[in-house]
Amino acid sequence: MQEKIKNLIHDVEGFIPSTEEQLEEFRLKYLSKKGILSDLFLEMKEASPEQKKDLGKILNELKNKAEEKYASFKESLEGSKLEVATDMDLTLPSSSYLGSRHPISIVRNEIVEIFSRIGFTVSEGPEIEDDWHNFSALNFPEEHPARDMQDTFFIQKDPDIALRTHTSSVQVRVMESSQPPIRTISPGRVFRNEAISARAHCIFHQVEGLCIDEDISFADLKQTLLYFAREMFGEDTKIRLRPSYFPFTEPSAEMDISCTLCGGKGCNICKYTGWTEIMGCGMVDPNVLKNCHINPLIYTGFAFGMGIERITMLKYQINDLRIYFENDIRFLRQFSGMI
Ligand code: PHE
Repeated sequence: MQEKIKNLIHDVEGFIPSTEEQLEEFRLKYLSKKGILSDLFLEMKEASPEQKKDLGKILNELKNKAEEKYASFKESLEGSKLEVATDMDLTLPSSSYLGSRHPISIVRNEIVEIFSRIGFTVSEGPEIEDDWHNFSALNFPEEHPARDMQDTFFIQKDPDIALRTHTSSVQVRVMESSQPPIRTISPGRVFRNEAISARAHCIFHQVEGLCIDEDISFADLKQTLLYFAREMFGEDTKIRLRPSYFPFTEPSAEMDISCTLCGGKGCNICKYTGWTEIMGCGMVDPNVLKNCHINPLIYTGFAFGMGIERITMLKYQINDLRIYFENDIRFLRQFSGMI
């Protein structure tokens, strides 16, 4: 009997199942109630007391080995079944599409970068503003028709609180909290109560700029904007300033650049004029400086403001504003890889 058990131990040690069925056969053969081990334990009862001692020892060895074998393969075979069930191939390379930045963010970053190269810092402020920062400090008198230029969204019927209509409000905050020299740009979301169309939206993005110091002149404004236009749209870009009106600047101007598509020859994008408008600008009105506790007898400054959507349209020849907000993956994917 001893010999028989030793052979069985040998068999158990060499057993390697490759399927769950084989493992189950093993269990039935050795460990079940009608299996070999039960029979052998019964047989052992008939042996003499001395034999029992030795038999018991190797029989227990066989039992432990069979149980260990069963337990270890049960786990690994079940684990492999799980992997098959999830249908995962861990050797496959991962997806190479990482998403892309929104074109508005790409152009915003580019504008910030261009101005930061000539010493402009970035300042931000709240999207919900009070009348003072959005209008009054900027020389919009109460009830003045200039306020109608900016169709305002008011909040909770409170005429003092509104969604900012431009980021000039941030510049008021900067002037109130610091003294010149000031050179800063304020990128951000702005809101106007306009009907949505290919050319207008009720939410859009602006970058406004402000430079205040002693002896700042209109020539500084013009040179700064020429630098910007060339960096943004290419070396050959020309600029043109046309007189305009804003309550917070005097004199005020609109800036045009030579058409990005035809280079100034005339095409349907520039309506055959050779020019496209990109921003408003001017010398900061002395009243605005006074309102923000800056002495207009010592300091002068210039300001400008542009819509990022418009700059992006010109740069990437996009002809409908609404596409920026539709999240159409086919549109957005064209900008992948850009920062
Ligand atoms: N704040 C103006 C607007 O939103 C733009 C502007 C800024 C014009 C600075 C002149 C000077 O329309």
